[in-house]
Amino acid sequence: MKASVLKDSLVRKFDKKLEAIIREDLKILVEIKSYTIRSGGKRIRPILHYCLCQLLGYQGKRWLDVGAIAELIHAASLLHDDVVDEAETRRGLQSVGSKFGNKTAILAGDYLLACGIDHLNGLGYPSLMDLFTQVIKDLSVSELIQMEWEKNPKITLEIYNRVVYGKTASLFGAVASAAGVLAESSDKDRKKLGQFGVELGSFFQKKDDAIDYFSPASKSGKVPLKDFHNGLYTYPILLLLEKADKNDKKLVHSLFEKTERSPGDGVVILSLLSRYQIREQMDAEFRRIAENLMKFLNSFPESSIRSLLKEQILKLLEE
Ligand code: FPP
Ligand code: MG
Repeated sequence: MKASVLKDSLVRKFDKKLEAIIREDLKILVEIKSYTIRSGGKRIRPILHYCLCQLLGYQGKRWLDVGAIAELIHAASLLHDDVVDEAETRRGLQSVGSKFGNKTAILAGDYLLACGIDHLNGLGYPSLMDLFTQVIKDLSVSELIQMEWEKNPKITLEIYNRVVYGKTASLFGAVASAAGVLAESSDKDRKKLGQFGVELGSFFQKKDDAIDYFSPASKSGKVPLKDFHNGLYTYPILLLLEKADKNDKKLVHSLFEKTERSPGDGVVILSLLSRYQIREQMDAEFRRIAENLMKFLNSFPESSIRSLLKEQILKLLEE
């Protein structure tokens, strides 16, 4: 089956499962449920889970439940995140908070999360419960750390990495380990799967940070320099601060201290990133990570699913 056909059919299956898991007649929840599913993203987490289950030779059908639960946790965290970030839009549509009000977005997020946990509980796998409740803790803790540090010039790469782990990598790690749970892999193999997921998730987040500075909007579909204009210290800037001389460091901090940054400030930060070759440094790091991820996938026999996974990782390098 062609990769795009497989992906479309998986997305339809997961969306149907999501519909079934979120059961509630209350009008506002029905509305938000269809809005959230309709405005859904690429379903990367559930698709990753499905692919790993297949690679491991899992014959059952529980991947559909586990993948949908992972997507629900992700969707709930985004409903809350858009309130925290005061985001007007999500994936090009009005955010739930700006359409229905922030209080509704928070309560709807709680409801989605409860549906996910309830469904997970019904599957009867205590180790899956452990994995996903830890993810929810990681999501909340990292969002709190991010709130505390994101505009603080003293933020370090260590703090940044903790945030990346909690807000993105932990859930990727859990969907990967969960495939090992369903396939009854050994503890050692589950651990390796978890590490693969964490590494992929962290790559995914760092790439997202890089896109903000280095990808033309036409290609990424995102507003360029959004993190910069919001005054957020993200990965490219932290790497720049590590390398820059004293004066340039001062210049970077002075740009971030401003209450508002002008288009001219954007030109200055881009020229500093270019002078210190931050893009090249990040690209080299991404190539190293991708190689490592490929090495892991190559430990499985050749199959169309393995090719699909490899293709998706290579796509991340190209964006
Ligand atoms: C997106 O980051 C943020 C997250 C994926 C995590 C948000 C977590 C919470 C709000 C804690 C509550 C958690 C649950 C499970 C209800 P971003 O703002 O950098 O990305 P964006 O550009 O997609 O908004
Ligand atoms: Mg956000």
